[in-house]
Amino acid sequence: MSTRALLVTGGGGVGKTTLAAAIGVVAARRGIRTLVVTVDPARRLADALGTTLGTEPQPLGDEPNLWAAMLDASASWEAIARRHADPAAAERLVANPFFHAATTQFPASQSYAAAEEAVTFIDARAWELVVVDTPPAAGGIDFFTAPRAITDLVGGRLLRWMTGGNLPGRRFFFDRTARPVLRIAGTVLGTQLLDQIAQFFMDLRTTYDGVRRRAKEIEDHLRGAHTVVVTTADPTPLREAVRFFRELPEVARRPEAVIFNRTLPTSWIDADPSGIPEPLASNLRRWAAEAHRQQELRAEFASRYDTRMAVVPWQPEPPTDLDALERLVKASEGLEPVLWDTVD
Ligand SMILES: Nc1ncnc2c1ncn2[C@@H]1O[C@H](COP(=O)(O)OP(=O)(O)OP(=O)(O)O)[C@@H](O)[C@H]1O
Ligand SMILES: [Mg+2]
Repeated sequence: MSTRALLVTGGGGVGKTTLAAAIGVVAARRGIRTLVVTVDPARRLADALGTTLGTEPQPLGDEPNLWAAMLDASASWEAIARRHADPAAAERLVANPFFHAATTQFPASQSYAAAEEAVTFIDARAWELVVVDTPPAAGGIDFFTAPRAITDLVGGRLLRWMTGGNLPGRRFFFDRTARPVLRIAGTVLGTQLLDQIAQFFMDLRTTYDGVRRRAKEIEDHLRGAHTVVVTTADPTPLREAVRFFRELPEVARRPEAVIFNRTLPTSWIDADPSGIPEPLASNLRRWAAEAHRQQELRAEFASRYDTRMAVVPWQPEPPTDLDALERLVKASEGLEPVLWDTVD
C-alpha cells in the first residue's frame, strides 16, 4: 500500500491538532484508510478521539477507516535508546537523569521523537494516508531539521565542545585537571554527578551509527511528505507561517497550502448596524473591521507567498467529536481540494 504523509505544521495554539484530526475524519469517511498521529491533544479532543488513545495506532469508534495514535515524546525516546544502544547501555541510559533531561530539554528532542514515530507509521504501509500533527515545542521548521540536530548531539558535537578536541574516552572524565570546564564542573556538581554525565555521553555515543542511519531515513521521508501550514490572523502565528514558506523549501517540499483558521465570516464585513442600538452597533462595526482586516491579510499572504489557501471558520464551540470535526472541514473553503490533491 502506498502511503501519503500530510504534515500539519504552524505556530502554537493555531489549531494544528484540531485540523489534523478533522482532515483525518474527512479522509477516512471518504473511504481512505487513514491514521491521525496527534501530539498532546486538548482534553476534550482527546476524548473525542478515544479515551484510551495510546502510542500504538488504534481504530476509532465505529469508523472503519480511521485510526489514531498519540505521540509521547519521552516514551519514544526510551524506544529509540532501546533500538539503537546495546541492552545494558540502553538500561543505563533510560535510568540516567541526564537522559531524561537531554531528551526533554534539548530543543530538537521532542521533534525528533515525534518524527521518528511518525516515520515508523509511514513505513508500516498499513495506511493510505498518515496525517501528522506536529509538536507545539517545534518552533518553525525544527521538525524538519531535528534529525540533523540529533545526529550532531549523539555524534558528539556537544561533547566535543565540552571537552575540546577529539572525543575523549572514559579516562578523560576522571582526569579532572584535563580541561578547566570539567574541573569547574567537578567542583560545582560533585564527582558523582560528573560521573553520571560522563556515563551518559559514553552510552549515548554507542547509539551513533543507528541514530545517524535512522535520522537520514527520517530526513528523506520528511522531504517527501506534503505539508500544510496552519495560522490565524494574529501576528505571532503569522510570523511563524512566513518562516515555513521562506525556510521549508531549503530542507523539504514547499508547503502545499496555508490554512487560515478561526477566521471571521466575510459576510460580517458588510454588516449594517443601522437601527441597532449602541453599544451593539459599534461592536458590530468593530467586528466588521476585523473581518475586513483578516480578508485583506489572507489575500496578501496568498499572493506574496504564491500559495493555495484554505479558510476555516471560527466556530462558536470548539469541535470535540468526530461529526463536529467533519463539519469544520465542510464549513471551510478550499481545504478539501488541497486534501484530495495530496491523496491522489
Ligand atoms: N476553527 C475553530 N473554531 C473554534 N475553536 C477552534 C478552532 N480551531 C481550533 N479551535 C480550538 O482552539 C484550541 C487550540 O486548538 P489546537 O489544540 O488544535 O491547536 P494546536 O495548534 O494543536 O495547539 P498546540 O500548538 O498547543 O499544540 C482548542 O481548544 C481547539 O478546540
Ligand atoms: Mg496541538
